Amino acid sequence: MSTASVSLQHVSKHYERGGQLLPVLTDIHFDIMPGDYLALMGPSGSGKSTLLNLIAGIDQPSGGAILVGGTDIARLNDRELADWRAANVGFIFQFYNLMPVLTALENVELPLLLAPLNRRERRERALFALDLVGLADRVKHYPSELSGGQQQRVAIARAIVSDPALIVADEPTGDLDRKSGEEILALLDTLNRDSGKTIVMVTHDQKAADAARQVRHLEKGELSHLEIRQ
Ligand SMILES: Nc1ncnc2c1ncn2[C@@H]1O[C@H](COP(=O)(O)OP(=O)(O)O)[C@@H](O)[C@H]1O
Ligand SMILES: [Mg+2]
Repeated sequence: MSTASVSLQHVSKHYERGGQLLPVLTDIHFDIMPGDYLALMGPSGSGKSTLLNLIAGIDQPSGGAILVGGTDIARLNDRELADWRAANVGFIFQFYNLMPVLTALENVELPLLLAPLNRRERRERALFALDLVGLADRVKHYPSELSGGQQQRVAIARAIVSDPALIVADEPTGDLDRKSGEEILALLDTLNRDSGKTIVMVTHDQKAADAARQVRHLEKGELSHLEIRQ
């Protein structure tokens, strides 16, 4: 049995539009091992987000199998898949996706509502996560009162608050200035090196890709060989 975090086995994905089949991914076959830090690169429209969503169990493949913890996720029902995601995957998006009517602290607490924790425990964990991303002094701020870089750090706190083993990030520096982008990359690096988080990051920012330890390119639905960086 594979010890991979996520194993993609001859995965394909197509979408259907008005009776037309739109192939996006063909025969994607690789393992993501615990502690990997992989950058997925490729031109716009090449299927990076589609692949990331398959890895995170947000979407199902059209063909092939995706094994998480040895289980084919196509065999999990929606409830089981949602439970797996809640416990195992943290998401980071290009545009942060924070709830505007909630404070930083409340945004970070949100994923914990699914966990068997009381209010005080939720608060403590959320504060811990916000402290980790350097925002202990911004917990009462609303997203509109934070810079882009700070909002992305809140989003990272939200992604790690449930202590998932896998973090998926879709263009996490895509909307940030250089300095804020570097801060986000430094945080991801720490999460990978010090906390052993497995990270899969979609990016077309070369700086971001250089921060990862492995790079793969996606083009015309196919994945290039693995480049090992460090
Ligand atoms: N839900 C969808 N329905 C139909 N086509 C889609 C859907 N999502 C993505 N696509 C198409 O699949 C291709 C890959 O999209 P995407 O994975 O978002 O690319 P990337 O993230 O690399 O820019 C694009 O041609 C896009 O238009
Ligand atoms: Mg995309």
